[in-house]
Amino acid sequence: MTFDVEAIRAQFPILNRDINEQPLAYLDNAASAQKPLAVIDAMKSQMETSYANVHRGLHTMANETTAAYEGARQTVADFLGAPKVDNIVFTRGATEALNLVAYGLMEEIEAGDEIIISQMEHHSNIVPWHFLRERKGAVIRFVPVLDNGVLDTDALKSMLSAKTKVVSLVHMSNVLGTINPIKTIAPWVKSTGAVFVVDGTQAAVHMPINVQDLGVDFFCMTGHKLYGPTAIGALYGSLEMLNRLQPFNGGGEMIEDVFEDRVTYNDAPHKFEAGTPPILEAIGLGAAIKWYRQYDPADIHQHEMAVYYHALDGLRDINSFRLVGDAPEKGSVLSFNLEGAHAHDVAQILDKYGVAVRAGQHCTQPLMTRLGIHSTARASFGIYNTLDEADRLIAAVKKAAHFLS
Ligand SMILES: Cc1ncc(COP(=O)(O)O)c(C=O)c1O
Repeated sequence: MTFDVEAIRAQFPILNRDINEQPLAYLDNAASAQKPLAVIDAMKSQMETSYANVHRGLHTMANETTAAYEGARQTVADFLGAPKVDNIVFTRGATEALNLVAYGLMEEIEAGDEIIISQMEHHSNIVPWHFLRERKGAVIRFVPVLDNGVLDTDALKSMLSAKTKVVSLVHMSNVLGTINPIKTIAPWVKSTGAVFVVDGTQAAVHMPINVQDLGVDFFCMTGHKLYGPTAIGALYGSLEMLNRLQPFNGGGEMIEDVFEDRVTYNDAPHKFEAGTPPILEAIGLGAAIKWYRQYDPADIHQHEMAVYYHALDGLRDINSFRLVGDAPEKGSVLSFNLEGAHAHDVAQILDKYGVAVRAGQHCTQPLMTRLGIHSTARASFGIYNTLDEADRLIAAVKKAAHFLS
């Protein structure tokens, strides 16, 4: 489908609303994106026409709902380039996917084993590994981030050793926008025999993903940033790796047989989906991916980066403006500070002009410490943002700079 931003915007009813008597400029997509009618309608229509619990039914609607739920799994598998539908585990989001992997590997980890992550990780790719440090004596090592927001891959290379058991890295930073060279890193990790986990939460929204081409063992994504519903995400794992993981939650559906003295487990991915899953949310995620895939990823990228650079050009005219994250390979995330002003105050002033941005530490406290800053304001651009909205951001930040200086 040709890329027509106004035609895309028309599919998002919420973008028509006003905020503080100004038209909404929604620039908080890295936190969560808005939903197109295709997603809203898919979930509504499922509830209105065919809804039941999945898998265990012998009646028509149970079978129809199961087909829709499993169809969504196939859609995710295709989207990520997974070889089989069974490579995809539905989770509540990226956070749960990363916890699932860390928990699943817990028994393999011994005191002194090393887990390598980076200074630009989201807390959801830090805290689950701290559990392994606390409970098993694992050592967490952080790959440094250079001043411009690039991952120090030379340092990463030198940190890898026979002690490395897991390497878990973000594909695209939610603060810096940096895109890490996952495909280059994968063979380095593989040569140590370590498990390679990739947090693709932001990347999956901004670039085509092929997990086989990337050469990763695990890759996670989340629905709500990809124009889909909340409380649904997915974990890709090679079948060998999924079979290596211990189950995360226990309950119905994840078992094969349960006896008084023992239990046997279902195969992956069902082994990791205990209880009634987020059925409608999975169907909504499938609808979001199908909707998104109508557009050429190159067109989406070009459009988002045009809006990003337009905003950046204008913001650079402001004396107190400081960009945070200037990697040559980056996506449409624009983190910044106004010297002498708190990012929260900046965001609150922007809201008065209808411009929605996020401000704070963005769940990346070690990154803030590394950069020597407390927080940032962050404008993050998605498929429906416009050059006009970038202009409104610039104008509102100018007002904030004037007001707060
Ligand atoms: C890079 C990154 N990883 C993980 C997450 C966690 O995603 P979720 O809250 O959907 O589980 C986020 C959310 O902001 C993120 O930006």
